[in-house]
Amino acid sequence: MSVDAALVTNIENVRWMSGFSGSSAAIVLSPSEAVFITDSRYDEQAHEQVKGFEIHVFASPTRQAQAIGAVIHRLGLTSVSFEAEHVTFATMNSWANDIPGIEFTPVEKMISPLRMVKSAEEIEKIRRACGIGDACFEHVLRMLRPGVTEYDVALDIEFFIRRQGAKIAFDVIAVSGERSARPHGTPSERKLEVGDFVTLDFGACVDGWNSDLTRTVVIGEATDRHREVFDAVLRAEESCIAAMKPGVAAKDVDALARRILAERDFDKYFGHGLGHGLGSAVHDVASMNPNSTDVLEPGQVWTVEPGVYIPGFGGCRIEDDVVVTSDGVEVLTHASKPFVVP
Ligand code: GLY
Ligand code: MN
Ligand code: MN
Repeated sequence: MSVDAALVTNIENVRWMSGFSGSSAAIVLSPSEAVFITDSRYDEQAHEQVKGFEIHVFASPTRQAQAIGAVIHRLGLTSVSFEAEHVTFATMNSWANDIPGIEFTPVEKMISPLRMVKSAEEIEKIRRACGIGDACFEHVLRMLRPGVTEYDVALDIEFFIRRQGAKIAFDVIAVSGERSARPHGTPSERKLEVGDFVTLDFGACVDGWNSDLTRTVVIGEATDRHREVFDAVLRAEESCIAAMKPGVAAKDVDALARRILAERDFDKYFGHGLGHGLGSAVHDVASMNPNSTDVLEPGQVWTVEPGVYIPGFGGCRIEDDVVVTSDGVEVLTHASKPFVVP
């Protein structure tokens, strides 16, 4: 396949390539030209953030497809590749209508694999985001008492992160009691009670780079079953982190977690993947699950997050963020992992 240029419209890829933090933009990249296209809402911001690109700003009534077409025609291009996984049928139609005479070729994984290995500067920002997540957990621990609502805990987490000058990486998960069996449950007005599992999953976003941290504790008094679940999840998590190093297949790390949980027959309660890439997106390129084809390489940043979710009882997930080094991983999150809080 030979094309004249790449058209990048997935905003996460645009952000990664250009440093632009706005919500709408595209990039046309040929061997000799790099053009960043955005609309007038982002004129000043683009000029401030985007370096090394020619900046093309359009305004209403011009549509984005027309602006992309103007750039493509001005550069004299006749064939352009685009991100197959990202472009919708409607967008394809708008390109066909607004950019006549151009051959558009879908390419899978055109940009995303480049994002897997992080630069030292990117890792530093993720490290800072992890530090805020750690501090936030230690701060919020003192709130985990009977009578406090999930919603108030979630709000406190959000306030803490924002007060550090960071953004919330994603909507805070704070679930308790039977509700902790919902891996991605949203906080409710339920009050914490003695004997609850409480799972908190949150992250900070620093200069566009994210952390993603989960801790589960029991309020007041734990049963043997709590202990069994917590220990199995913690052992799976720690064993997987210890097994990670360059050259290891992500799906083999996932399989190790399932094997450990299976020793207590808990694997049937672990429905999601063991982890995901972490970076400028929270669910960044790469996945650690039974179907993954990814292989660990130095500079990749991963979450490791086994969980056991038992309907009618509750759930436990423990999640840390790690960067792959030359001979293993460095754990970037250091929040404590208490089992029971007073
Ligand atoms: N916070 C979503 C996740 O852990 O993947
Ligand atoms: Mn998480
Ligand atoms: Mn995660």
